[in-house]
Amino acid sequence: MSQKIGYPDYMREYIKIVEETRERRLKERYRRLSSDERLELLKTWHPDYKEGTKRPIKIGPSAGLMVPHEVANLIEAYPLIDPNDIDLSRIDYDVDVLIIGSGGAGTSAAIWANIEGIPAENILITTKLRFGDANTKMAQGGIQAADRPNDSPARHFLDIMGGGLYANDPELVRELVRDAPFIIKWLEDLGVIFDKEPDGTMIEVSGGGASRNRMHSCKDYTGLEIMRVLMDEALNRGINVLEFSPAIELLTDDSGNRVTGAILWNMETKEYYIARAKAVILATGGYGRLHIQNFPTTNHYGATMDGVVLAYRVGAKLRDLDATQYHPTGAAYPDQILGLLITEKVRSMGAQLVNIDGEQFVYPLETRDAVSAAIIRECYGRNKGVVTPTGVRGVWLDTPMVDIIRGEGATKRYLSSVYRMYSRFGIDVTKEPILVFPTLHYMNGGVCINKYGQVLGVNGIIEGFFAAGEVTGGVHGKNRLMGNSLLEILVYGRRAGISAAKYVKSGVSPGKLTLNHIPKYVEELEKIGVQKDRRAPMLLPEYRGEKVLSKAIPIFPI
Ligand code: FUM
Repeated sequence: MSQKIGYPDYMREYIKIVEETRERRLKERYRRLSSDERLELLKTWHPDYKEGTKRPIKIGPSAGLMVPHEVANLIEAYPLIDPNDIDLSRIDYDVDVLIIGSGGAGTSAAIWANIEGIPAENILITTKLRFGDANTKMAQGGIQAADRPNDSPARHFLDIMGGGLYANDPELVRELVRDAPFIIKWLEDLGVIFDKEPDGTMIEVSGGGASRNRMHSCKDYTGLEIMRVLMDEALNRGINVLEFSPAIELLTDDSGNRVTGAILWNMETKEYYIARAKAVILATGGYGRLHIQNFPTTNHYGATMDGVVLAYRVGAKLRDLDATQYHPTGAAYPDQILGLLITEKVRSMGAQLVNIDGEQFVYPLETRDAVSAAIIRECYGRNKGVVTPTGVRGVWLDTPMVDIIRGEGATKRYLSSVYRMYSRFGIDVTKEPILVFPTLHYMNGGVCINKYGQVLGVNGIIEGFFAAGEVTGGVHGKNRLMGNSLLEILVYGRRAGISAAKYVKSGVSPGKLTLNHIPKYVEELEKIGVQKDRRAPMLLPEYRGEKVLSKAIPIFPI
């Protein structure tokens, strides 16, 4: 239903300044930040650097790792189940490969496990919501791959390392960029409809922090299009999907160093099921719905970090969870779409970020951490933001520039989702700018893996346990670049699927099912005095009572 809200008069007055300064800004060249300037900006204005927002994890294999309080609260939490209530002799699902999560990472892992020789009936995807309900479908801007003559995986590698403040695992990055062109070809062969020039060459634009145009896209519905094709492929292959059935605990064998299955929770019947598997692949995504520091989020409803919680309890190491990605351009007006994603592709196609005085205060394609910090500085340090009728601050994203630079119709054609979202509120983005502010977008860190997608504990790999996608850490270091998460889920989804299949084919028998890790973990929790009613995984976010989202704003001042 259309709600013709538009802008109030005082905001229209500010828009006049954006319009008056556009011609000048079109000619303006903006100097990019040096790395020292970027670091200084981050230290002063990026939320990751805000004092008092983190604490070290007190127990487990990564004790001492600094993480946001919201993350620590879930890691230092009691399980949802009491092992004494669980009958482990009752096996409800018995499969070769169990995949937890049905976004791009989980679905591609399932497909590749099947390609590698595991029969479809021996593969089970279990998922918290419906098949495909995950951040992948919500990814808009594109997927990176260095496949042009003026580009190379080596350049792509350097961009990623720089973007991640060199905290990335170089081996994971190397494999990512090497596989990238193959992944694009694979997707295209499966039926993904990428944007192309009339002569059939791919349209490729740049993203923040990238030195070349290597972003492949499907308008601004890239993730949705990729998931359409992956879901079809998985279903056509006969892979089974169990919906509304999140994993609430992993199972290990007597050694404690092999994952042998999971306890699934049927959200409709409120019953648990035991799934035994020779190999388990974790692909549960990230933590946007934890609303770190009260930020709104671009993430889907199920993004509650469940996988990190489960993996940690069975001994997986964690990394880089001190680094949260705030996407620079979340919607700041109208309130109905607060925090929703305005794809970076809008800036890739020419739109500038502009303050209340009509000044372009940051190069629009700096790395995301820097652009977000610059917007926060503008709104809360220099007082150069625009305040909405409900007190939200933001800066202008000068969207009409896209058609001016790329030709009339470019916005409707390549940014159809943005165009449509604002049309519903009486705002034509081809004629008027939109107000934006950073929004929680991505969990930069996560569970440690190696290049085969095997999960790492303190003493090396955890047998039979694989992971892929946002639940893992290492690829992106402290800050991910646009378009590398769609790539990561497919590169590492594939690797995890193949590795799990090889592990199964090596002749392993099903492992014993135990919950022996739980009493040990509970003992640690008791030692540090965690209150008994703090439980995890969270499964679904809570928006009732005190925690309604509108109370999350305003986020600052610092
Ligand atoms: O801005 C975007 O379209 C987001 C892309 C990404 O996070 O990779």
